[in-house]
Amino acid sequence: MTLRLLLALALWAGGSSCGGRAVSSSQPRVQCRASRYPVAVDCSWTLPPAPNCTTATTFIATYRLGVAAQGQSRPCLQPTPEATGCTIPDVQLFSLSPYVLNVTAVHPGGASSGFAPFVAEHVIKPDPPEAVRLSPLPGRQLQVRWEPPGSWPFPEVFSLKYWIRYRRQGASRFRQVGPIEATSFTLRAVRPQARYCIQVAAQDVTDYGELSDWSLPAAPAMTLGR
Ligand SMILES: *[C@@H]1O[C@H](CO)[C@@H](O)[C@H](O)[C@H]1NC(C)=O
Ligand SMILES: *[C@@H]1O[C@H](CO)[C@@H](O)[C@H](O)[C@H]1NC(C)=O
Repeated sequence: MTLRLLLALALWAGGSSCGGRAVSSSQPRVQCRASRYPVAVDCSWTLPPAPNCTTATTFIATYRLGVAAQGQSRPCLQPTPEATGCTIPDVQLFSLSPYVLNVTAVHPGGASSGFAPFVAEHVIKPDPPEAVRLSPLPGRQLQVRWEPPGSWPFPEVFSLKYWIRYRRQGASRFRQVGPIEATSFTLRAVRPQARYCIQVAAQDVTDYGELSDWSLPAAPAMTLGR
């Protein structure tokens, strides 16, 4: 099913043109992410530069649920026709068939479409945890605390789990711990006087989608007293 869809899309898109010539490299490259699951899925795209397509390009972004060509097509919400991103609200969760986003670049010479099939749960990628901070504890310990990403709408319902990685200044590799479901972690037996770079990443607790990017390092990178 998916293979047939991809084949059909490839054939369809291969015939598109810019300036009257087939320019398959100028199809929008489309990517969708659910960093605020389950509220919406946000999609974005890039358009590789094509010869002689210098005038402004606008985009038509539509999506439908399921691969059948007669499925109902709805607009993906774009702030402006020139914007290179759009939002799909009211996403159906745990859908058995994928959504297909169709982004059509319209320029004076013609139009070309790029497609992204996705299932909401598979494109979950939270934003990184926020406000990562360090406090020294007695007995050569360091406590790291953080907040869930502010963009994650319902952390109490759709829980996140976290990974922590840390590296002493001068050490060549990070050590990683996790996953944990708390929003703090205590490093034990840290070296006095050493500086540590500590980062946290978030992931949906049910393992859907992928790990967030690593947060900013815990601030301020503290030197332990004495
Ligand atoms: C692009 O424009 C140049 C100069 O106007 C022309 O020589 C060339 O054939 C055009 N290329 C395409 C792909 O239309
Ligand atoms: C993609 O969208 C364009 C513009 O709305 C439309 O003309 C085209 O038929 C669509 N392609 C597919 C495969 O649905």
